[in-house]
Amino acid sequence: SIPSIPLNTGAVIPQVGLGTWPLDDAQAADAVVTAIGLGYRHIDTATRYGNETGVGEGIHRSAIAREELFVTTKLDGEFQGDDRAIDGLRAALDRLDMSYVDLLLIHWPLPQRDQYVSTWRTFEKLYADGLARAIGVSNFTPAHLERLAAETSVVPAVNQIQISPQIVRLEQRAYDTAHGIVTQSWSPLGGGSGARSLLAEPVIVGIASRLERTPAQVVLRWHVQQGLVVIPKSTDPVRLAQNLDLFSFELSAEDMAALATLDAGPDAGVDSDRGGH
Ligand code: A2P
Repeated sequence: SIPSIPLNTGAVIPQVGLGTWPLDDAQAADAVVTAIGLGYRHIDTATRYGNETGVGEGIHRSAIAREELFVTTKLDGEFQGDDRAIDGLRAALDRLDMSYVDLLLIHWPLPQRDQYVSTWRTFEKLYADGLARAIGVSNFTPAHLERLAAETSVVPAVNQIQISPQIVRLEQRAYDTAHGIVTQSWSPLGGGSGARSLLAEPVIVGIASRLERTPAQVVLRWHVQQGLVVIPKSTDPVRLAQNLDLFSFELSAEDMAALATLDAGPDAGVDSDRGGH
């Protein structure tokens, strides 16, 4: 089974999950069925992805007990502001066909709207009501988290941010760790065409061939070996299986140092204020 990381709620999160962007309902349902059959127990979606219905259908088709699964969704700008997340989560739960999510995230801080603090207060109510077993954020910087710390009471369980060997975000991760917030990596393989070029990097290909692993496994191992939670997306059964098989090999300190040369610097990646998938 897949290792889990403790959350500040007392629950745990499986360290590997299935990412579902940009799958449609039918693709998401099939990927979820395949993934659960292979041993995945953690599924990541978002209202903005438009595939919560498919995710719910895949879970239903898998006939797995709800309590065996860790399901995350995220609410976007439309549901920011006083109490709007209540309707947002209710509608998401209807689509997912479940009575609670394991983790509910603010998808983007959207600081220009200045509503993420009031949204967080609504999230605190949803957490108290048990509709969300844990609450967290995505794409937040230390400045955004500092405001939550100053003006609200529940510390986010998770901050889900874009991380890959090219987008390392050490400062953000250090902030999260110091405050008991688990960091999750979105697009851990570099995302779409980014993944194709990252997985062809000679340093990654070299380590993979020496260890008799695939480049994707080397990159995902780089994440989990540092305590990050990953949610790689694939629809291919062979790749889905590979992406879960990360715990029977290790990267050496020399391998980690070689991978560190891929860091594109602090300005790499999607700007947290801009919004994306
Ligand atoms: P596909 O869905 O065709 O397998 P990320 O999770 O970083 O957003 O990256 C997802 C991209 O990486 C997708 O294009 C996915 O393609 C590809 N991908 C996922 N797993 C693997 C793998 N094990 N080997 C190669 N490419 C992969």
